Amino acid sequence: MLGSTFTLLASLAVSTLASPIVELRSVNKTTSLADLALQKVLFDASPIFGYYVKNETSTSRWMEKYPDSTKIVHMNIPGVHDTQTWNYSLATQEALDHVTDLDGVTVYPPEVYRCQQQPIISMLNAGIRVFDLRVAFDPTNSTLVFWHSQALQSETATMDDVLFGFYKWLDDHPSEALLLSFNYEGSTTAYAQNNAAVQMAIYDTLTTPAAKKYFVQTQNEFGTLGEARGKITLLRRFSLSELPASYSNSIQGVYFDGNQWFDNNPDITLVYNSAKNLSAYIEDFYEPGEPYGQGAAYNIDRKYNATTAHIIKATTQYPDSLFWTFASSENDSDNPIETPEIMALGNGTATPLGGVNQRLIPFLKEQKGKRVGIVMFDFFDQPGDLVQTFLDI
Ligand SMILES: *[C@@H]1O[C@H](CO)[C@@H](O)[C@H](O)[C@H]1NC(C)=O
Ligand SMILES: *[C@@H]1O[C@H](CO)[C@@H](O)[C@H](O)[C@H]1NC(C)=O
Ligand SMILES: *[C@@H]1O[C@H](CO)[C@@H](O)[C@H](O)[C@H]1NC(C)=O
Ligand SMILES: *[C@@H]1O[C@H](CO)[C@@H](O)[C@H](O)[C@H]1NC(C)=O
Ligand SMILES: *[C@@H]1O[C@H](CO)[C@@H](O)[C@H](O)[C@H]1NC(C)=O
Ligand SMILES: *[C@@H]1O[C@H](CO)[C@@H](O)[C@H](O)[C@H]1NC(C)=O
Ligand SMILES: *[C@@H]1O[C@H](CO)[C@@H](O)[C@H](O)[C@H]1NC(C)=O
Ligand SMILES: *[C@@H]1O[C@H](CO)[C@@H](O)[C@H](O)[C@H]1NC(C)=O
Repeated sequence: MLGSTFTLLASLAVSTLASPIVELRSVNKTTSLADLALQKVLFDASPIFGYYVKNETSTSRWMEKYPDSTKIVHMNIPGVHDTQTWNYSLATQEALDHVTDLDGVTVYPPEVYRCQQQPIISMLNAGIRVFDLRVAFDPTNSTLVFWHSQALQSETATMDDVLFGFYKWLDDHPSEALLLSFNYEGSTTAYAQNNAAVQMAIYDTLTTPAAKKYFVQTQNEFGTLGEARGKITLLRRFSLSELPASYSNSIQGVYFDGNQWFDNNPDITLVYNSAKNLSAYIEDFYEPGEPYGQGAAYNIDRKYNATTAHIIKATTQYPDSLFWTFASSENDSDNPIETPEIMALGNGTATPLGGVNQRLIPFLKEQKGKRVGIVMFDFFDQPGDLVQTFLDI
């Protein structure tokens, strides 16, 4: 009886995990049910998390060299914007058409939504420690899945599945501290609402026994690296306004109130703890505005200016406050359209200086020894020395 159960589980695991999960696919008579269950969850997470692989590189444990007493707000930490979009190609979009066709909204071409091209597991191993993630209900209001506006990223990988990928990676990298920014994503389907049901689902996912173990449990305060290692600090960008106040009062993490996070603003001051007068300084000028139709070079220059102005503020002001700078941007209504990729990486010969990412390399090299804070990138893997340059500051 036990033997046949084992064979069934093992063969299921082998057939679904057949290819790329390098060290997790080995199954034999001593493999525990707990290991098999983890393999299954990680496989379910893979459309968003990628296939779990161990890949120790010079960047996979970069926080090891910093003392426990280092304050998080004093650190320079690379992050990624709209993380969940890394595999949003035309093939992925078309594979999800049968779902999104029912949503009552128009889904634009994939390049409008796509902000990354490496899986989360590669981001982690490459040194990225801050992740911008967007969730909402699936079209049936049953599960929390990942979106970028109308673009559904996977109909199967749930928020909880993907968290297990981060938990597993932290077990393998206990020196590292992660910061996960979760936001409720709007404009997903014609009928989606940021209502009590979806807020309760997000709350529940972030307060499971596993979440209680892996998330830093303090509220509205950043502590030291020592307190954050092996754990996730929640950057809570979603509101729990439709639930009784006890939910907001009890959930862990630092709350970034959307009412203070002014839309498309290059210089936000957001008070996240009024009792202790703690503020975050944020640049989130994501959509270049007037004058319109100027093309890539002009708009990249404008975004580069906003990004570097904020980083310079981080190096010169409020040394004990959080600085959070977004190097990512797009204007998908402009003509010609500035996609996230064009803004980050340039538009060929029309942009001889490159995109925001290429232009940041020499700028970041000049900041050596200074505090720049958190900087969020689109297409973080290009140019190939961007993250290393950032970590060398
Ligand atoms: C069995 O697989 C586990 C991983 O599931 C591995 O750690 C262990 O070394 C393997 N044992 C043998 C005898 O191959
Ligand atoms: C990425 O997308 C392609 C095309 O939709 C798909 O075949 C592949 O399985 C996806 N990758 C993962 C890790 O899910
Ligand atoms: C491991 O990381 C290196 C450097 O980032 C990368 O070139 C390589 O493709 C990675 N290997 C795997 C299996 O992910
Ligand atoms: C999902 O919830 C929204 C908001 O309450 C509602 O309008 C919509 O009909 C629901 N969809 C389904 C499929 O139940
Ligand atoms: C609150 O902190 C800011 C710096 O972030 C400072 O400029 C301001 O004076 C402080 N206010 C009070 C009342 O301490
Ligand atoms: C983006 O471009 C469109 C078209 O040029 C324009 O209408 C829109 O206002 C721009 N966005 C912002 C935030 O200025
Ligand atoms: C990017 O380059 C293409 C081809 O040269 C051009 O048609 C398009 O207008 C450019 N886009 C922007 C935003 O400048
Ligand atoms: C960016 O800043 C530089 C230097 O101050 C300035 O010359 C340039 O006009 C700015 N670019 C845009 C598009 O505003």
